[in-house]
Amino acid sequence: MKTVSIEKDQAKLVQLQPDPRGRPREAIVVLAGDGKPRVYLNECKHIPIPLDAGTAELLDEDSGMLFCGTHGALYRLEDGYCVAGPCMGEALDPLPFRVDDEGHVVLDEDL
Ligand code: FES
Repeated sequence: MKTVSIEKDQAKLVQLQPDPRGRPREAIVVLAGDGKPRVYLNECKHIPIPLDAGTAELLDEDSGMLFCGTHGALYRLEDGYCVAGPCMGEALDPLPFRVDDEGHVVLDEDL
């Protein structure tokens, strides 16, 4: 299990176990506008590569949305839905999590 504290206007990356082919996987943890966390797989829906393109930059300053550093797709925080870019209409893969008594996001890294 991994525990993450998250605040408004932050997006954090959490290392997960590699996929069955041994490729690295990460989760993106954000707080949506309703003040509740969301967790998505760090993988663009256009091409299956990390959204941050290795930069750890995930939030677009102007829109406050998640953005793909490779081709600029924008994803809403609340549902991972892509509103602009080559994968418009698709959504990031949500990952299961729970919130503990202190408000931290708890992830199973074996997801
Ligand atoms: S790989 Fe993300 S928009 Fe192309």
